[in-house]
Amino acid sequence: MINKQELEKIKEKALAEHIPIIMDETLEVIEKYLKKSKPKTMLEIGTAVGYSAICFIDFLAEGGRIDTIERDEQRVREARENIEKVGAANMINIYEGDAVEILPTLNSKYDVCFIDAAKGKYPFFLQQALRLLNDNGIIFADNILYKGYVMSDYNKHKQRTAVRNLREYIKEASENDMLETEILDVGDGLAISRKK
Ligand SMILES: C[S@@+](CC[C@H](N)C(=O)[O-])C[C@H]1O[C@@H](n2cnc3c(N)ncnc32)[C@H](O)[C@@H]1O
Repeated sequence: MINKQELEKIKEKALAEHIPIIMDETLEVIEKYLKKSKPKTMLEIGTAVGYSAICFIDFLAEGGRIDTIERDEQRVREARENIEKVGAANMINIYEGDAVEILPTLNSKYDVCFIDAAKGKYPFFLQQALRLLNDNGIIFADNILYKGYVMSDYNKHKQRTAVRNLREYIKEASENDMLETEILDVGDGLAISRKK
């Protein structure tokens, strides 16, 4: 069992430093699913300081493990410290580098994929998650509604590429015959795709 006090400290520090971590209500939805399905292997794209990965650990099957990818060197360092602090070093493995380069080199299969990194790369992450996902597995994609921009006619330059790619993710996940996808309006929007 992860030490809840340590976990709370990690969360508070991340929030104080404006490091984007999973929102409580999004976490609740994912944890509910994990509790039921007890996955053995999980892939996370976007570790930040390890908060969500540490939260998920308690819900995995015995001997379960999480592989998580992060490109920011300082966050990787802090995530490793946090993971060590809560005694989860043998359950969480961090791949340091750009997920766009790392994902194509992976060949392990996962029961659950959690996409929570650069929004402009979501369609690519979906393609890779599908390749690495076990049958009956599930893909969660956080921030899929991006502050409501994705479902509005919002077209500001800075966010345009992200919005276009998030819309493309929704279209691909919804139209893919291998997947059953729903979009939940929790937190910043969560896409849930089950592999048939
Ligand atoms: C929203 S945060 C992850 C939060 C974390 N999942 C949590 O809830 O505790 C997104 C992270 O993804 C990382 N990231 C963004 N694009 C990436 C990429 N292409 N490859 C690896 N990491 C990436 C960022 O550096 C950032 O730390």
